[in-house]
Amino acid sequence: MTKILVIHGPNLDLLGKREPNIYGNTTLAQINQALNKLAKTYKISLSIKQSNHEGKIVDWIGKSKNIYAGLLINPAAYTHTSIAIRDAILASGILTVEVHLSNIYTREEFRHKSLISPVAKGSILGFGPKSYLLGLEALIGLLDPK
Ligand code: DQA
Repeated sequence: MTKILVIHGPNLDLLGKREPNIYGNTTLAQINQALNKLAKTYKISLSIKQSNHEGKIVDWIGKSKNIYAGLLINPAAYTHTSIAIRDAILASGILTVEVHLSNIYTREEFRHKSLISPVAKGSILGFGPKSYLLGLEALIGLLDPK
């Protein structure tokens, strides 16, 4: 069975309680449930992880080669700072789709730059929890272009 790695970055464990005016009321558990439901319709298995620690995320991506067919990642604040996560994606060569709940380009200027976008196949942002589902659809489409 095809496996996809899903990584949620820092503070996304607080979704539902965290700045609901920006991120909405949907919890991470609800997002994960919707992702699993969608993956099941494609007979794809997901391994879903969340961490507030950059090194942990780097380790997961580093070990992803030959295990996962693709990576769906919301790097959260590390989007704007992490050369290490960017390098891990390049080093593993894993096919990556970047997602964000909010539209980072309509927010503070420090969010306008993503270090991850240039190493991702594509990015989906601004659609709230739906960004994840659209991102997963896009990734699956790349794996099995029918
Ligand atoms: C985010 C956007 C980031 O700028 C922010 O640091 C996050 C969440 C999003 O999904 O909209 O934590 O990645």
